[in-house]
Amino acid sequence: MKVTLRLVAAIWISALLVIAGFAFLQVREERERLVGDLERRALLLGEGLREAIQPVVARGSTAGVERILKRFAKPTRGIAVYDRFAVLMVATPDLAPVLPPSLPEVTEAISQNEVSRGFRLLNARQTYVYATPLARDERPVGALAVVLDASHLDEAEWALWQAHALRFLVLALVVSLIALVVVRTSVTQPMAKMSEWTRALRTGRQVAPPAIPDANLFGPLASEVAHLARSMQRAQAAAEEEAALRLAGESVWTEERLKQFVNARLQGRSLVVVSNREPVFHVRVGGRIQTQTPASGLVTAMDPVMRACGGVWVAHGSGDADRETADAQGRLGVPVDDPRYTLRRVWLTKEEEQGYYYGFANEGLWPLCHIVHTRPVFRPDDWTYYAEVNRTFAETVVDEIRDAEAPLVLLQDYHFALLPALVKTARPDARVAIFWHIPWPNPEAFGICPWQRELLLGMLGADLIGFHTQYYCNNFLETVDRTLETRIDWEHFAVSRGEHATYVKPFPISVAPAFVDDPPDLSREALLRGLGISAEFLGVGVERVDYTKGLPERFRALRWFFERYPEYRERLVFVQLGAPSRSTIKRYQELQAEVEQTVREVNQALQTRSWRPILYLDHHHEHRDIWAYYRHADFCMVTSLHDGMNLVAKEFVSVRDDEDGVLVLSRFAGASYELRDALIVNPYDLAETAEAIRAAVEMPKEERQARMARMRHIVREHNIYRWAGLLLSELSRIPVEATAVKAS
Ligand code: G6P
Repeated sequence: MKVTLRLVAAIWISALLVIAGFAFLQVREERERLVGDLERRALLLGEGLREAIQPVVARGSTAGVERILKRFAKPTRGIAVYDRFAVLMVATPDLAPVLPPSLPEVTEAISQNEVSRGFRLLNARQTYVYATPLARDERPVGALAVVLDASHLDEAEWALWQAHALRFLVLALVVSLIALVVVRTSVTQPMAKMSEWTRALRTGRQVAPPAIPDANLFGPLASEVAHLARSMQRAQAAAEEEAALRLAGESVWTEERLKQFVNARLQGRSLVVVSNREPVFHVRVGGRIQTQTPASGLVTAMDPVMRACGGVWVAHGSGDADRETADAQGRLGVPVDDPRYTLRRVWLTKEEEQGYYYGFANEGLWPLCHIVHTRPVFRPDDWTYYAEVNRTFAETVVDEIRDAEAPLVLLQDYHFALLPALVKTARPDARVAIFWHIPWPNPEAFGICPWQRELLLGMLGADLIGFHTQYYCNNFLETVDRTLETRIDWEHFAVSRGEHATYVKPFPISVAPAFVDDPPDLSREALLRGLGISAEFLGVGVERVDYTKGLPERFRALRWFFERYPEYRERLVFVQLGAPSRSTIKRYQELQAEVEQTVREVNQALQTRSWRPILYLDHHHEHRDIWAYYRHADFCMVTSLHDGMNLVAKEFVSVRDDEDGVLVLSRFAGASYELRDALIVNPYDLAETAEAIRAAVEMPKEERQARMARMRHIVREHNIYRWAGLLLSELSRIPVEATAVKAS
């Protein structure tokens, strides 16, 4: 039976049961009321008459009785008088013809000498008979019967049943109708849409999931289907990509290839990645929990790798709703809607976060490694916290690899310089690598750090240390050479201490070919309209607000450009997306103020009634939102004063599938070694940067496209899967000793 039919049948049966129950009770009540009424009337009449009639009957005067009855006779009530043998003496005219020879109530009243009553069918009509004995000296001499019409009792009952039947019909119809409409809109139609959607997915069409009205009912199903669809699409896209690459004879690294590579090379060994920043964090916005992707090049790079390889990513749980969204061990699946690896969050106290992250890592090591004239601050307390937090993370990593044989541990960045030795000491069989995402300065610059020995010894616990460029590798090896007693093999770029060797190699990091899986369908016009601007030329910058990024320099260069080339006023708008970063640090607060002040100054100096040269959007943007800016900009500016790699440059290139757009790139960003077709500038040189902006907007289309095509080729070839593949391949090749590493 169809569901709707079953539902309607259930509604009708329930309505019938409920209404019949109520009707039965009401009919019973009504009957009792009417019978009571009859009884009262019969009693009043009977007892009233008895007084008058009793002596007359006792005298045996039929004529006397007739006289009395004449006075009381009415069509609605009959009265009959009987002698003591229950033989009819006199009856009112309407009653007389229908009376049976004997009435049981009368016989009983005389024999029992008490009132008897009951219902009786007289001439096919329902009547109520009230018989009361007539007596003299307490001995019965006859009986008086009052007969009242009781046919209205059945009629009233029938009318009630009819009214309830009507009520039942109306109720059942209305409820069924409403139920059918609800089933149709909330179940049948969404189901039909979902099946249409799944059919489309099955046939390989990329269709967005339908809007589902009831998230509670269909949410879980829709999300399961969405997972399935995504997996299918990924598998299909990967297969198509592989086939296309095979046809073209290319050996580009893809997600699928990395997956196969990891399966073959790691043979089921666990992979654990550690970074300070987590790939997703959860925050409370207006009482609701939101999942956000942090503005971090490290995250942009590592997330696709983890999606391909699976494994565990250990990171600091820093979002204010992070605890609620993870289990008791701080674990959750990522991506949240289609988990492909595990995030293990580590909880830190406010003091630990302050000392380790804000203090030593970001006020000490960050300015130490970036040569941008911000003096590092080294506080002994911060160092203590840094060492303590490194130990906490080491415990977590050791816990994660407890049951794993010869696991691979990939540590990330300057937050964890001590971690390699700590992990290696606990698990000598683990293969440990640390990748340093920021520059490594020359030995003199690094030498000012009071704990440089400890940092280097910690890092040398690793089997492999990775930097973006050979230049940083050389700086590192020279720093080690000047600071520690080690043997450096300059031919193989390896450092040996006792039995342990650490290889130091460049692995230029990159991005995944697709910046986002599902780019928004947003035209340039819609983007500009949304921003409330109109512009012939659109420039874009995407950064964390950090003093290494050269933001004030960039805005001053823009001012220089507009002053030098006024014909571009009112025609070009530069949009700066600035994600707030490390904002409790004083230097970052000063920078934020400086950036705002510079934007204000440039705008005030140049703006007209309908135009402002710089639009500064200083809040967090998700990748999908940033995509539209990259895709529709005429040029993108990366003017870092010093930068390990800078992935914004590569993200911009990866998004430009239209093979258009110009990249203005700082020569002090690692990316400038690879992206030679960008317009390379010295960001401290305002005039040169301004000229690059002019060159970008005036560059002929063919040249723009040729440059972009070459850059895209590089980013496509040297993508993040290749980076991970080469790094893991190198790491898995290194023979590991079974003896413990000394941490000091
Ligand atoms: C740089 C570092 C990353 C860091 C990112 C964002 O890219 O190399 O480790 O995640 O900046 O900084 P934050 O302090 O917000 O993590």
